[in-house]
Amino acid sequence: MIRNPALILAAVCLLTACNTTTIPVVPLPVEGHSIISDSGMVVSAHPESSRIGIKILKKGGNAVDAAVAVEFALAVCYPEAGNIGGGGFMLVREADGRTDLIDYREKAPQNSFETMYLDADGNVRNGLSTDSHMASGVPGTVDGMLNIHSKYGNLSFREVIQPAIDLASNGFPVTSGQAADLNNNRERFLKMNDTKVAFVRDVPWKGGDTLRQPDLAKTLELIRDYGRDGFYSGRTAKLIVSEMERGNGIMTLNDLSEYNSVFRDPVSAWYRGYRVISASPPSGGGIILLQILGMIEPYDLKKLGFHTVSSVHLIAEAEKRAFADRAEYLGDPDFTGIPLKEMLDTGYLHSRMSSFRPGSATPSSSLSHGLLIPAESEETTHYTVVDSYGNAVAATTTLNNTFGSAIVVDSAGFLLNNQMDDFSVKPGFPNMYGLIGSEANSIKGGKRMLSSMTPFIVEKDGALFLAGGSPGGSTIPTTVLQVLINVIDYGMNIRQAVDTGRFHHQWLPDMITYENNSLDQSVITGLEEIGHHLQSRSSIGRVNAVMILPGSRKWGVGDSRGNNSARGY
Ligand code: DON
Repeated sequence: MIRNPALILAAVCLLTACNTTTIPVVPLPVEGHSIISDSGMVVSAHPESSRIGIKILKKGGNAVDAAVAVEFALAVCYPEAGNIGGGGFMLVREADGRTDLIDYREKAPQNSFETMYLDADGNVRNGLSTDSHMASGVPGTVDGMLNIHSKYGNLSFREVIQPAIDLASNGFPVTSGQAADLNNNRERFLKMNDTKVAFVRDVPWKGGDTLRQPDLAKTLELIRDYGRDGFYSGRTAKLIVSEMERGNGIMTLNDLSEYNSVFRDPVSAWYRGYRVISASPPSGGGIILLQILGMIEPYDLKKLGFHTVSSVHLIAEAEKRAFADRAEYLGDPDFTGIPLKEMLDTGYLHSRMSSFRPGSATPSSSLSHGLLIPAESEETTHYTVVDSYGNAVAATTTLNNTFGSAIVVDSAGFLLNNQMDDFSVKPGFPNMYGLIGSEANSIKGGKRMLSSMTPFIVEKDGALFLAGGSPGGSTIPTTVLQVLINVIDYGMNIRQAVDTGRFHHQWLPDMITYENNSLDQSVITGLEEIGHHLQSRSSIGRVNAVMILPGSRKWGVGDSRGNNSARGY
């Protein structure tokens, strides 16, 4: 049996490059950062969740069954971002081409108000929107999973949630990356919780140690047995409200019982003959992605070269303009009119680039006001599932930053999000990703905070071609953008497209950030010479994606920046 993925990849690259539908006849490895499968594929942030997704597909579940199982599994095995105390966006494409989006983004509790994070002088109170019981929006994941499953699921809900329950009660081996995450956040857990939580132990964690979460298993059992009522009312809801009382939080039983996830139309646009589909508001991710693609389409990127001064300059300038629009126009569509059509209009996007000069950077201050510095601390997670029938799911879910607020609901065993920080807490004041906002994203009870999550699906000639997404806060849409242009413009295979270096501009601060060693020194100097400011940083994004190959094979890639795992059969 051939177990060398490099050999298999080489064979497949050769085949795809030759544009033939012949399939290499070699047994394939079933798990790794980059693998190829005949039937189904799951790519997620942890080997355990990918394994569970495949188990559900093999049992006869479809992509949505597997996705729901993966989402609950991530709440157990990837507490950094997987959750039942947070929310997300799930994009679905059925094999017949119909698309759907479920928005299970958190909502502000009803007692929220515009100036809730400001002191009497109107200054932002440090840490209140990130490290307090007031930082949590009403969680959406459980309602989202129940709704998407009842619309598309094939197996029973009980069957898809049970593996997560078993994982929580039996425990699982933490990855080396997780051991580091748990150790790095020990002090936060101790500070934010009165009782001992499963994530803290007396000796440091190391890769392979077992993490058991009996309280979480019990909460998941209630969701299994009582559905919505297992979380949004009864024991779990009471425990959440008691937790709020302990820390002066504002979420009530009423907020929980009124939470609802929403089916929305995804956004989509054409780029060089490919149809790109993504999340609509209250995520700004899809619009930013499509705006940037629309702004760069008139230029021949391939001719400009990969990671050259000209191509990085063009993309960064388009990114600035898209993020400036985000700050002004985007928020919760249930509260704010969003000029979606106008923002995606080709003529408008071309006119946005009329101030673009190939030989000089447009200062962000001349596109709008303010110059602000972001903090860096991030953790969200994306997973992608494609089943043997050709149904695809791309879902991004988060508690906001790593382990959310670090508050574990006492006796219920799950972490609460700190997603309220994604609102504009004060006009012009940057959130933890340096993003600023306006009235459109101001705080109001029942409103959803603007997101950057960008699950994507791409069609080629009317058929499923790519599906994926990434964590990374404000860098999510620009990470996705680079994966798409790497494939479409630069002709990379999906593994190269995901693994190659990335850069990012978000208008404010006026700065191109780039992954260490991703740009040549001559390119950095060239960009500085035309007026850009640059700063290197650690990794940007962690993409989990699937590409459909000739013959319906699936190429799954889990970003080598993390302990991500592609699994297929
Ligand atoms: O919804 C958003 O845009 C952010 N709360 C996502 C946070 C995130 O991606 C952190 N991850 N790396």
